[in-house]
Amino acid sequence: MEWRHVEGAFSQWTGDAILFYAWQEEDTLPAGPARWMDQEAPWLKESPALKDFRAKKAEILLFYGPAGARIPRVMLVGLGKRKDWSLEVFRHATAMAVRRCRDLSVERVLFPVTALDGLSETEEVLVREAMMAARLGLYRYDELKTRDVEKSDCPKEFIVCSEGPLPFVPELFREVDAVCGGIRLARDLATAPANVVTPTRMAQEAARIASAYGMAFEVFDLDKAKELGMGGFVAVAQGSREPARFIIVEHCPQGVEDQAPVVLVGKGITFDTGGISIKPAAKMEDMKHDMAGAAAVLGTLEAVGRLNIPRRVVGLMPCTENMPDGQAYKPGDVIKTHAGLTVEVISTDAEGRMILCDALSYAVSRYRPAFMVDLATLTGACVIALGDRVAGLLGNHEALLTMIQNTGKPLGELFWPLPLYDFYFEDMKSDVADFKNVGDRKAGTIIGAMFLKQFVPDTVPWAHVDIAGTVWADKDLGWIPKGASGFGVRTLVHLVREYRGSL
Ligand code: BES
Ligand code: MN
Ligand code: ZN
Repeated sequence: MEWRHVEGAFSQWTGDAILFYAWQEEDTLPAGPARWMDQEAPWLKESPALKDFRAKKAEILLFYGPAGARIPRVMLVGLGKRKDWSLEVFRHATAMAVRRCRDLSVERVLFPVTALDGLSETEEVLVREAMMAARLGLYRYDELKTRDVEKSDCPKEFIVCSEGPLPFVPELFREVDAVCGGIRLARDLATAPANVVTPTRMAQEAARIASAYGMAFEVFDLDKAKELGMGGFVAVAQGSREPARFIIVEHCPQGVEDQAPVVLVGKGITFDTGGISIKPAAKMEDMKHDMAGAAAVLGTLEAVGRLNIPRRVVGLMPCTENMPDGQAYKPGDVIKTHAGLTVEVISTDAEGRMILCDALSYAVSRYRPAFMVDLATLTGACVIALGDRVAGLLGNHEALLTMIQNTGKPLGELFWPLPLYDFYFEDMKSDVADFKNVGDRKAGTIIGAMFLKQFVPDTVPWAHVDIAGTVWADKDLGWIPKGASGFGVRTLVHLVREYRGSL
């Protein structure tokens, strides 16, 4: 779907369908749409169908014009009650409308800014959210299908139309393309199965992005990781026949070489069987998405590169499978990590923290980050605590956590803080090593973060985002179709873009 902008009088707007919004429990249409209808579709205002339309959230009423009408379809999209309005409602309604257009094989959708009259956000924000919702809501993954592929590539054009100039539009088109490109990549990678998205494939994608946007690319194999003392990463990787890859991509545009970088770390377990502490068979297939943290980092880099954001950003993605095998690490093993700390492995299924701890301490020692964010599908406990629409947010720096939460909220990415009190660490005491890789069953998400915290000095602002719940939509959520969400990309891109060098 391409973007286009048409500026001119109503009579100059042409397309196959036009979208307008309506409120529940309000008898009269908002002024903008009413004005358009008076002029362009007087037949519509007389229609009894209008009286029956409730305008509940994402409810859609489709009108067909008389033969020869300039715009044959008018789609009225419900926004629910005015008092319940939020950008999320707006995104959801817009995504559903554009998807309806796809079902109808509508090629050119008109999106009039006139439809936004009376909504309590700027036109720029609303057009951005509508475009994001439209593009993301149309997402589907059919790369591996050979039969029954839904072919409709409609709508082909999303036409923003206005009577006067919209100076923000060209830049907005570029921005939405870049961010959606990043989210699409993250979704594709998390959706693709583990026999397709291997650590090797992750490295190929990273190399592609690096070369497309002039970023530095490095990849460590298992031998190199051993040499660097990444004992946690090596322990997890040694049980897999699929070669592990520790991937580093650095975006460093000219002139910012001296900047302390923003460091992003993503968990890249391309398949998590649990290892010797093996998982039950039911739903194990879901564990193909255990690399979604790394995918979100790659997606972010894709967008950061396309937008050429003038800020130094480093992405680290430790990628490996977690398999049971003759060579696999075992419960009871004591592992020496890159930081030098020793860990007693109680569960090989707590593998995410084993690879992330090395990535975090390596990043700290090599890059001196301005701040560091890791994203990981780390704990099932996070899904229990927060469900699948809110990510867990933990870390050592209040202002950073607040910044992440506030950045995400209007973008439709929700984060909620959990505490990291020192006493949680007591559950991780080990008799043989510095600490264990799990606690007892309590506070699983916090224990995971508490583990990671051991590897980040207090002087480095750090946030850990547990995306175990948000990574996947079990049901259609509108702008997030059922499946991989690409969660994190949008917030991270904005975070990088808006960061001004201090927290
Ligand atoms: N990848 C899983 C966590 C997960 C579970 C993500 C469900 C998404 C959906 C992680 O590696 C894991 O197995 N965590 C264990 C930790 C436990 C052993 C302390 C868990 O949550 O059970
Ligand atoms: Mn696991
Ligand atoms: Zn895992």
